[in-house]
Amino acid sequence: MNESICPRRLRSFSALRGLVRETRVSPQSLVYPLFVVEEQNVRREIPSLPGQFHYSPDRVCEAVEESLAHGVNKFLLFGLPAHKDETGSGAWNPQGVVQQGLWAIRQRYPQVVLIGDVCLCEYTSHGHCGILEGEVLDNDKTLPLLAKTALSQAQAGADLIAPSAMADGQVRAIRSALDREGFAQTGILSYSAKYASAFYGPFRDAAGSAPSFGDRKSYQMDPHNLREALRECALDEAEGADCLMVKPALSYLDVIAKVRQSTHLPLAAYSVSGEYAMIKAAARAGLIDEYPAMCEATVSIFRAGADILITYYARELAKAIVKGDMG
Ligand code: PBG
Repeated sequence: MNESICPRRLRSFSALRGLVRETRVSPQSLVYPLFVVEEQNVRREIPSLPGQFHYSPDRVCEAVEESLAHGVNKFLLFGLPAHKDETGSGAWNPQGVVQQGLWAIRQRYPQVVLIGDVCLCEYTSHGHCGILEGEVLDNDKTLPLLAKTALSQAQAGADLIAPSAMADGQVRAIRSALDREGFAQTGILSYSAKYASAFYGPFRDAAGSAPSFGDRKSYQMDPHNLREALRECALDEAEGADCLMVKPALSYLDVIAKVRQSTHLPLAAYSVSGEYAMIKAAARAGLIDEYPAMCEATVSIFRAGADILITYYARELAKAIVKGDMG
């Protein structure tokens, strides 16, 4: 061994490791998902997502307040309507549950970033992400409904619209509806490369959005494909997306890295419910130490190239970052 070449030299103590650290994370990059239920006076823990809660619109500001205290000021809102139907009409109701949640937060906290998830699966009786023709998602019938949903969320105070239905052309449809109705300043954070993943299980319980038959493989992406993700991202960029997203995160770090190289747009990664639930469950079983596992998983996503991370651990992470536990 050549003794003058010694990588360990730069690892000898914490401050020196901090000096040469390559991946630096900030609470500013974190987005916290919130689930709003169409009820009153509710703050109820979600069984499939320990530590996460359902809030009614009249109490959702409590979640914002607590998050701000932790240093998190960006939120992604999902709605659980009281009634579902074939077309998911609750999604674009101006008085709908997510619109009420957005409005309540917007009134009280004008400076926070509010992102609305735009999809129909929480609102349709069949649990699919758009209008069905037989058992197949009808793209053309779905697009105007996604556009209406996006518009109603912009009107309720969303800064960014996050379409997650994986319908072709959804970004263009939403962009033109927003522009036409005077919301040119409302941005689009597109779930560009969203895979048909097994890791959404706990979310589907939390959002009551499991499909009543079949699966989402005819619209969400095949986990075997990487080039297709680059194609989806390029299409979304051309259609006017302001930010792109890869989802899930941990099993798709290669996709994040490749997308990062192929675009200049900000890139988000969504560390989904199953990723959170796995760490929680393993920690509860005494198999891993939750806190460092959370930190390490998170660093890997930023190291791969994400600029923005949507995560159920946002508050704990923001604290860990401020404490200096993550660099
Ligand atoms: C809506 C949507 C889903 C998630 C985010 N938006 C569920 C799905 O596509 O089945 C999953 C989020 C998570 O698992 O944390 N379409």
